[in-house]
Amino acid sequence: MSEPKARDLRHHLAMLAIIAVTALAVPAAVATFIGSGLYNIGADAPHTKPVFWLIGQLRDRSIAVRARGLTPPADLTDPGRVAAGAGLYDKLCVSCHLAPQMKKTDLARGLYPKAPPLAYGTDLTPGQEFWVIKHGVKLTAMPAWGRTHDDAQVWDLVAFIRKMPDLDAAGYKAAVNAAPPATPK
Ligand code: HEC
Repeated sequence: MSEPKARDLRHHLAMLAIIAVTALAVPAAVATFIGSGLYNIGADAPHTKPVFWLIGQLRDRSIAVRARGLTPPADLTDPGRVAAGAGLYDKLCVSCHLAPQMKKTDLARGLYPKAPPLAYGTDLTPGQEFWVIKHGVKLTAMPAWGRTHDDAQVWDLVAFIRKMPDLDAAGYKAAVNAAPPATPK
């Protein structure tokens, strides 16, 4: 009777030991890797494919969950909003995200991850665009514009970037020229 019990105990202890060693080994390996400085954090060295994929998933899920329930204002396509957004976009965003038919700026060329050229539109919903513009994206150059601009101005920007794919260089220029003078906050 006692022999199988002793065997069971030994078996359980062995399992526990394996779990404990694994639980310690993983953080130790991660710490050793980080401590070694082997990972190249330079913006001119792309992430490996798995790291890129992982960060992409993290970002996409984080934005999708946080943007749930963000309802765009009913007047998102209002020409007044689009015009105000054009003025803000030209002042704040064009150096990284460029404009229709615009040559890449030195700033845009040096960014990693790249700032998507917004003249081609995004795969995001208006609510997700609002969230990204308001809160920015950590460890990328995308700033949190909500620190300096109110929600109405962020929706103006959303209104304009959703319009931009319809514009060529001349249309962009005309939209910016039609923008109201910036309202000081
Ligand atoms: C200094 C550079 C920089 C400036 C200025 C900047 N952005 Fe960005 N933006 C980025 C980068 C880099 C990303 C990509 C972040 C990532 O990969 O997650 C980004 C992402 C975005 C996205 C998400 C696009 C997508 O397809 O996922 C939107 C929308 C956006 N920016 C809008 C704006 C607007 C509007 C402004 C101006 C108010 C602005 N950005 C100013 C660098 C910038």
